[in-house]
Amino acid sequence: MTDRPKSFHVSAEVHAYLVQHGTPPDEIQRALIEETQKLGGISIMQIAPEQGAFMTLLARAIGTRYALEVGTFTGYSALCIARGLPDTGRLICCDVSEEWTAIARRYWEKAGVSEKIDLRIAPALDTLRALPEQPQLDFAFIDADKPGYIAYYEEILKRLRPGGLILVDNVLWLGRVVDASANDEQTLAIRDFNNHVARDSRVECVMLPVSDGLTLLRKR
Ligand SMILES: C[S@@+](CC[C@H](N)C(=O)[O-])C[C@H]1O[C@@H](n2cnc3c(N)ncnc32)[C@H](O)[C@@H]1O
Repeated sequence: MTDRPKSFHVSAEVHAYLVQHGTPPDEIQRALIEETQKLGGISIMQIAPEQGAFMTLLARAIGTRYALEVGTFTGYSALCIARGLPDTGRLICCDVSEEWTAIARRYWEKAGVSEKIDLRIAPALDTLRALPEQPQLDFAFIDADKPGYIAYYEEILKRLRPGGLILVDNVLWLGRVVDASANDEQTLAIRDFNNHVARDSRVECVMLPVSDGLTLLRKR
């Protein structure tokens, strides 16, 4: 469970060690990891356990009441964010897949967080643009189609309160961001996104080598 290929920059041994020395996934999270792995290769889309622990901690640390995620899949990241919210907190989840999010819904129910989660099945840009343009979001996570990253970021930033956080997954793209021979659509999109935020004076930004690379942005 802990030998995740996405953490390509640390050995399997070091990765297992760091997961074991953070808050571990509980029984429900472990069951969700196992059920997702049964889907086959696509399970690589699930966030890493240490990333989930980090997101719960961060969401709680900034007193998040209103959160949003783009890219829900089988619901692991949403479960982790929801656990960092108070009972009155809300998380909007954006995804296009009824099939994958049906798994998510079952686990949210088991974990007792479904009341906090509002899942919207539609292209994420439509869901985002339908939200009021008020700075009400405290916390957001972007983890969907890479060519959409800049647009998701821009729509979220308009709706994020000053001091609010955005986390963005896969920003190292298994190291292809620094491979000059990698020029596929996904890699180019991730590089464009990384360049876009690095020079954006509206935010403070740090890229962390967590799993496949996690950028943390704070709105000024
Ligand atoms: C990398 S997975 C998300 C993994 C998830 N965060 C987790 O912890 O398991 C990406 C998800 O984005 C969704 N997706 C792709 N394009 C989308 C779009 N245009 N709008 C909304 N969701 C989209 C896919 O259906 C998929 O479930």
